[in-house]
Amino acid sequence: MQLQFEVNGQAVEIDIAPRTTLCDCLRDHLNLTGHAGCEHGACGACTVIVDGQAVRSCLMLAVQVAGASIVTVEGLADGDELSPLQEAFRKHHALQCGFCTPGMLTTLHALLSDEPMADADRIRDVLSGNLCRCTGYIPIVEAALEAREHYAKKQGSKAG
Ligand code: FES
Ligand code: FES
Repeated sequence: MQLQFEVNGQAVEIDIAPRTTLCDCLRDHLNLTGHAGCEHGACGACTVIVDGQAVRSCLMLAVQVAGASIVTVEGLADGDELSPLQEAFRKHHALQCGFCTPGMLTTLHALLSDEPMADADRIRDVLSGNLCRCTGYIPIVEAALEAREHYAKKQGSKAG
């Protein structure tokens, strides 16, 4: 079936089998290959943002996003310029193998866009569904805490 939605600011229209997951759609049809891990909702590596909400793309059918606006990890940077959250990950060494990183970044981007002053407990709570097997969570939480200022400013300039 024909499916239209927006991804990282670009309108897309694709022909897709109704049983295709959003994860497979993004990877196989649009070459947005931010990670997939368990493919059954357990690891969080495949998290993308659909209309502002962080969702596991392996648990969603592509047809469910008809008309929606999606942000993937590829949409966070501005060309070659990393986003403030990505810069904070780099500064705090918040990744090692990087397998969990796309899902960590999208999950945190959705959280901090909504709640720029989320505290460490809230950040840990929201990240509890994203598994990291090698870095440990301390630098990831530190990076998120540092990036909050940017999200707060962004929210302030929207409100102003
Ligand atoms: S690949 Fe989707 S939650 Fe693990
Ligand atoms: S950096 Fe390796 S799983 Fe998180």
